[in-house]
Amino acid sequence: MKPVSLIQFLIEERRANHINAELSLLIEVVARACKRIAVATNKGALGGVLGMAGDGDALSINVQGEAQKKLDVISNEILLEANAWGGQLAACASEEMEDPQPIPDMYPKGNHLLLFDPLDGSSNIDVNVSVGTIFSILRCPDGVTEAKTEHFLQPGTAQLAAGYVVYGPATVLVLTFGHGTHEFTLDREVGSFVLSRRAIKVPEETAEFAINMSNQRHWEAPMQRYIGELLAGKDGPRGKDFNMRWVASMVADVHRILTRGGVFFYPLDAKIKAKGETGKLRLMYEANPMAFIIEQAGGAAATGRERILDIMPTALHQRVPVFLGSAAEVEVASRYHRQADGAAG
Ligand code: AHG
Repeated sequence: MKPVSLIQFLIEERRANHINAELSLLIEVVARACKRIAVATNKGALGGVLGMAGDGDALSINVQGEAQKKLDVISNEILLEANAWGGQLAACASEEMEDPQPIPDMYPKGNHLLLFDPLDGSSNIDVNVSVGTIFSILRCPDGVTEAKTEHFLQPGTAQLAAGYVVYGPATVLVLTFGHGTHEFTLDREVGSFVLSRRAIKVPEETAEFAINMSNQRHWEAPMQRYIGELLAGKDGPRGKDFNMRWVASMVADVHRILTRGGVFFYPLDAKIKAKGETGKLRLMYEANPMAFIIEQAGGAAATGRERILDIMPTALHQRVPVFLGSAAEVEVASRYHRQADGAAG
């Protein structure tokens, strides 16, 4: 079979009326920006991209209060610059910036809103482990001439498109427009993304889970119960052994789930609550796009209390607990949370 390039795929999607020309162009621009991030990431120490942004007492701190890596800043700039002039966007919002960035007046404006985590898993940059970019696209509400934070506060069900790129041994783009989840692999010689898996399916059942076990003592009781049962293996109530993996780059953990199944958790815990937070991962830049991608692949995504895509956001940088992957496992963990809430209520 002849290889299908991303551009060919986007033309097919337009002909099927899954996307319009503006959205198709926007995806091309985002994909091109991600190719530039892939090049910067691959250069590693030789490109001077490792380490922290700023230095000494003047380390660069983002809106989340986290010290930024050089590659966080570079990736954010690449995405902002690539998307400013194309004419498909009303504004961009980034995990790295407090407020949305309007499209400069000198460029035409479009009807879409782009949200992104420019470099997910940035603690892995310096140790040469996979990192990635996550993005989500919304429609700018009709009649809005200056897109502001309130216009971005739409539930995940309103996403027109979502995707991520993993900068790993291969650079891989995963994309959904709400008609299945598809994977493209970057052909470095040719310089284009080529369709490598169409209509990916997450197996409903699994024997592999991903969680940061070092937080175990901080988890809520239902999470303790659920993971305790998995760890008990064949001798426990689940009657089978489970394997565990944790990359600490959500893109890589989700990509493994889309490839061989599994379930991923970043639950609420006492340490997170003590900081006055409602979760670790960001709803708009991480949870919503990944939930859309996983649901379109037949998996499930929840907070343990509700479906992620149904959450009505109240803030751009809102954080939520995330359970996603194999539908059967997301349901068992969520059921334990519902039961615990019922017993407490
Ligand atoms: P960041 O983009 O700030 O590096 O965050 C990474 C996220 C996510 O990708 C990953 O699953 C999780 O945080 C890792 O958390 P731990 O540090 O607890 O392992």
